[in-house]
This record gives sequence, structure tokens and C-alpha cells, in this order.
Amino acid sequence: MFNSIGVIGLGVMGSNIALNMASKGEQVAVYNYTRDLTDQLVAKLDNQSLKPYYEIEDFVQSLEAPRKVFLMVTAGKAIDSVIHSLLPHLETGDIIMDGGNSHYVDTERRYDELKAKGISYLGIGVSGGEVGALKGPSIMPGGDKDAYEKVAPILTKISAKVNNDPCCTYIGPKGSGHFVKMVHNGIEYADMQLIAEAYTFLREKLHLEVNEIADIFETWNQGELKSYLIEITAEILRKKDEVTGLPLIDVILDKAGQKGTGKWTSMQAIDNGIPASIITEALFARYISALKEERVNAEKILTGPKTVQQKLDKNEWIDYIRQALYMGKVCAYAQGFTQYKMSSELNGWDLPLKDIALIFRGGCIIRAEFLNVISEAYQEQPNLANLLISPYFAEKVTDYQAGLRKVVCEGITSGISFPCLSSSLNFYDSYRKGISNANILQAQRDYFGAHTYERRDLAGVFHTDWQ
Ligand code: 6PG
Repeated sequence: MFNSIGVIGLGVMGSNIALNMASKGEQVAVYNYTRDLTDQLVAKLDNQSLKPYYEIEDFVQSLEAPRKVFLMVTAGKAIDSVIHSLLPHLETGDIIMDGGNSHYVDTERRYDELKAKGISYLGIGVSGGEVGALKGPSIMPGGDKDAYEKVAPILTKISAKVNNDPCCTYIGPKGSGHFVKMVHNGIEYADMQLIAEAYTFLREKLHLEVNEIADIFETWNQGELKSYLIEITAEILRKKDEVTGLPLIDVILDKAGQKGTGKWTSMQAIDNGIPASIITEALFARYISALKEERVNAEKILTGPKTVQQKLDKNEWIDYIRQALYMGKVCAYAQGFTQYKMSSELNGWDLPLKDIALIFRGGCIIRAEFLNVISEAYQEQPNLANLLISPYFAEKVTDYQAGLRKVVCEGITSGISFPCLSSSLNFYDSYRKGISNANILQAQRDYFGAHTYERRDLAGVFHTDWQ
């Protein structure tokens, strides 16, 4: 009997995807470049629906045609080398899927190279971490639609479900699936940083204990802020360190790591004139955090404001922070979805924004209650320029800006930095103004470089002899 699908790369994510496929009735071939990971996975098995192979040729030949090979291999050169070793054994019509966090530009190159050889290539965004891979991730497949249709039954089966709807939908051509996953991660960076800033306010300005903050996050998670990241933050805050008995959060070193997808999101936005300032602030917040030794030194030299701190009413301010966090999240998701819209237009991808919001409701790291309303906004207006101007969110932010302004002002006067909250407010205040100060920039450019300017009242391009 042939296997219905093969998985290459048996780290935790690959093993869990393979186990997920097997649990949904697929007959899965598994292969890893080194034998040990295959043996470890096989040792855990109590069923026959996962079959190990130790030679790539045997692995490929065990698959029914058209062969479907799912790669869960570290992004970068390793993907090219696996493809290289697969190629001699594949036939026209076979399908390779890359489920890792590959850069979408690499995916487009691989797609073209493989298409020329008659092999279909799907770049598949997979979100949900280890548990998601095992129990149901959110899946963002990009590539040729006919190739996707051949693997859709398996991908939809293994994906997360929300009200029985699979969190998997065809995204668009070539590298668009990996692009959507990349920006998902950019939004993830902003969402995480916004939560960290709300926590900082509760801890440093309202002087709350870690447990009280966990209670607040739990309460928030029952309302319109309900989301996976809020939920896990409450759990994180409850965790005690086994060595010291302190909240574990207090012994974790304050230096953030990153693997690149958030950075790629900012770089793509910058390259294409897309305002992704909140995501980029979140990235820079990680970079500043990484300068731990410098920050410790600077603390001895640089001081904050000398203002007398007002005592803040706890309940009143907890609600301001809730509003600020919600509005920050709306602005961050609005920027991420604008990045989808503008990039879709630039690349001719025709990204289904309404459906992307729907498949983000389950399985993925940024899953959140308000993705339902985001999806509805795009359903009502498929060409919506920005989520902020949809009737639902326009009303929300009109209301919640008061909380965001208070929190950001309080941070400024007391010397606590809120990079993503303040960036959200800056974005809101600049986006909602029909007139900006760029007339000054244009005049300066024309003054020193004769770069010309346009006028508000007359058509054409103008230059002034300023001196
Ligand atoms: C997901 C996550 C996943 C990974 C991040 C971590 O959607 O399942 O985004 O892809 O955990 O890439 O990214 P950093 O290491 O850059 O924070």
C-alpha cells in the first residue's frame, strides 16, 4: 500500500504535523536527514499509519502519485538542499510543500525553478507553534490553485477548526502564502509588545502585584480583547520559579530574541512604501531590549523626568489601559492588513482579506475574537482602504482614543516608554488628518535640491527659486 503523504524534517514541528496527519487517517511516510530523529518519533508510535524511511529514494517511492511531500525543515539553505535531493526521484505533477517560515522571495524562486521541471511547489504558512502543529494549526497555502486542490483535503483536515470551519484557505499564487505568514508574524510582534506595555503600566504605574495583573488579563480575556496572546500572558504571570519561588517572569532576562520574520515584514513594508510603523517599533523594542549591558550602564548616567507622580485611581486606569490595548491592537492589525492589501495590489495576488481574517481565528498565535469583526469589515467592503475607517472600528477608536491618549501621556510625563502604544496613537492621529506637514518637507527638498513640488490648487510640477 502506498503512503498518501510524506513529511521530511522530524524536529518537533515536523513530527507533530506528521502525527496530526496520521491521527486524521492519512498514511504518512516520514524521513529525516539524520536517523536519530526518525528513530525517536518511531519509538513514540503505537499505530501503523506513520512509516519511517531511512533512504530518500525509498521514502519517495513509497508515496502514491502525484507524490505529496511536506517539508518542515529550517528555512534557508536546508530547504534548497532537501529539494535537490528529492528531485531525481520525483515525476511531473508531484507536489512539494514547504511548511516552514521561508522568506516568500525564496519561495517564489523555488516555485519558478520547480515549475520549469514540472513539479508543483506550494509555500505554506503554518502558525500555531508545537501544539498547533499537533492539534490543528492555521494554514496559509500559496502556489498554483490546481496543486493546492490536490492537497486541500489533507490540509483542511489537519487545520484548526472554528465552528467547524477549517482554518485553512487558498491564499494566492507563488509566494503569497509565505508572505501572509510573514506579516502574521509581524502583527504577532506588535501584539506581543502592546501586551508587554499594558503589563508595564499595570506594574509600574498602578503598582499592582503580578497575580493581580494575571487576574486583569483573565478578565480582559473574557471580553472583546479575548485572544490567545492575552490568555497565555495570564498563565505566564501565574507561573512561579522553582528555584526562587518568585514569579517566573521576574527572573527571566529582559532581552528579546527574534528569528527574522518580523524584521522581514518591516523590510518589505519599507521597500514598498507601506506604513508598518507599529510592527517596526515592536521590532526595534526587541533590538533595544537586547542592549541589556548598555541599558544597565545608561541607567547610572541618564535620568527621567522630575515630576511628582500623581496617584492614579486603580479601576479607572485599568479601563483606560484596556481601551489603549484594544485600540493599539486595532491599529497594529490595521497596518498588517494594509500591508496585505497594498502588497496584493503590487504583486497581483488578489489576497482574500476576509478569508485570511477567518483562518486567523483559530490555531495561529494571533488568533483573537475581533478577527470576526475584521472579516466582516472586509466582507462588507472588499476594497476597504484601512480597517480604521470601517464603521465598527471607526466607532470603537473614536471612543477608545481617550484611554490610549491618557496612557501614552502618563508614560511620557513619567518617563516610561510605550513604543507600540504611542506609535499606534501617532499612526491614528496622522492617518485621520486630511492635511499633513509634508508641504514643509517638499519645500525643503525643492529648496536644497530642486526636487520640485506639486500644488494644492494647480495641476503640474513646480520649482521655486528660493533665494
Ligand atoms: C507561529 C509563530 C512561529 C514562531 C515565530 C517566533 O505563528 O507559530 O509565529 O512561527 O514561534 O516565528 O518568532 P520569533 O522567534 O522571531 O519571535
